[in-house]
Amino acid sequence: MEYDIVVVNGVVVTASDVAEYDIAIQGEKIALLAPKGTPLRAKKTIDAKGGYVMPGGIDAHVHLQEPPLFGKGSTADTFESGTRSAVAGGTTTIVAFAPQDKSKETLMPLFEETYAKAKDNCYGDYSFHMLVSNPTQQAISDLPALKEAGVTSVKIYMTYAALQLRDDQVLDVLLASRQNGITTMVHAENGDVLNWMTKQLEKRNLHAPKYHSNSRPQPLETEATYRAISLSSLVAEPILIVHVSSPTAAQHIRDAQTKGLPIYAETCPQYLFLTKADLDKPSFEGAKCVCAPPPREGSEDHDAIWKGLNNGTFTILSSDHCPFRYDDAVTGKKSVISPEYPVGRFQYIPNGIAGVETRLSLVLGEDRLPLQKFVEVTSTNVAKLYGLYPRKGALIPGVSDADLVIWYPKGGLAPFELKNEMLHHDVDYTPFEGRTLRQWPRYTILRGQVVWDRENGGLVGKKGYGQFVKRGESLLALKAQGEWNPEDF
Ligand SMILES: *[C@@H]1O[C@H](CO)[C@@H](O)[C@H](O)[C@H]1NC(C)=O
Repeated sequence: MEYDIVVVNGVVVTASDVAEYDIAIQGEKIALLAPKGTPLRAKKTIDAKGGYVMPGGIDAHVHLQEPPLFGKGSTADTFESGTRSAVAGGTTTIVAFAPQDKSKETLMPLFEETYAKAKDNCYGDYSFHMLVSNPTQQAISDLPALKEAGVTSVKIYMTYAALQLRDDQVLDVLLASRQNGITTMVHAENGDVLNWMTKQLEKRNLHAPKYHSNSRPQPLETEATYRAISLSSLVAEPILIVHVSSPTAAQHIRDAQTKGLPIYAETCPQYLFLTKADLDKPSFEGAKCVCAPPPREGSEDHDAIWKGLNNGTFTILSSDHCPFRYDDAVTGKKSVISPEYPVGRFQYIPNGIAGVETRLSLVLGEDRLPLQKFVEVTSTNVAKLYGLYPRKGALIPGVSDADLVIWYPKGGLAPFELKNEMLHHDVDYTPFEGRTLRQWPRYTILRGQVVWDRENGGLVGKKGYGQFVKRGESLLALKAQGEWNPEDF
């Protein structure tokens, strides 16, 4: 038997094990796991030289090529540049959003529109969450067809005029999701309080980027998180609270989990590495770190988020890649600067940061998560939560796609400074500029093809190789039993 590729001399890390073994790949699948040094014939041998070999990263929170939803800003990365950036950073699959704006009554045509943008343009595999901002009867009636098409999750917002749902609309979506076996993601910040805080700041002529953070302090997130948990408990629908930044919100999530409620949570590198002080950089530079929820106060907040990753409060770690250019007066961060507002207006700064390429390297290099936990929150749990497992997020012979990220051994790469010019996105900055990195993927393999080879050509994958991945039901969230009945309360 001659395999297509064997990966030898690696320390293989999965969500459950760290062990030295060799991996054979046949076609697009993992074919065999064998004790290190087993003689295996192959067309191509990749020597991992003692580096970690992990299932490819899965990033379930990536905004690409979305129409402007908040003022002028439109996301800078296309499906092409976003997935190019993903594979260069070790992420083989992304889940992006198919957005519905409030003027639309349906969902299916909007999914098809987004699918058409991605098709034939991606370097990595991709799937979609449906973003629901107008849950009409007609929109909800599209859920079974979406599920059939492989879209098994929806995202809703408790903030932003263009997207915010009232609580009764949140319940409509949760109930419909329960009935269709769909997982609901929730952006939990109280939009009304945010608007009120913004008015108070503007009344005092406080417009600089740093006030973005003052306009959305922790109680906004904490309250909305607890409200989302309460609403979910009424219909027993599993929810995933996206991009949790606040320790007090995390504590509510932990308490709900302890009670056995199907509450899952996501956090992002910005809540481990950035702080409020980053929004107060000189001139307009602070706008580079404007994202929501905002980076919190300091290391105590970061420590709580690391702790939540370690102790299982956070199910997944995503990037929330939502890229806007900085030096771009039309669609970028600087679009809010005018003669009347020389420091811009924080409330209109395109809200989001790039991070799909740096997510894995930043976190792995810190050595603050056990290796298995790292794989669990960046790949395996993501696959389980969103119905990609075990095709993705695992290394099961004959079953799992041959998606691998191969790292350097611990200490095997001299520490270096992150610079935007190293990255493959279409954004003119990274909010993590200047941070010391100790890891970077040496190879990324997607369905048996080397798509990133750091030392020989860098990006070697092809646009269009990435495929749409149909997702099934969540494997983490237990389905509610029987019909929902208000008399049960
Ligand atoms: C787990 O981490 C969360 C988030 O920091 C925290 O609220 C919770 O108290 C921790 N639980 C335990 C048992 O350590």
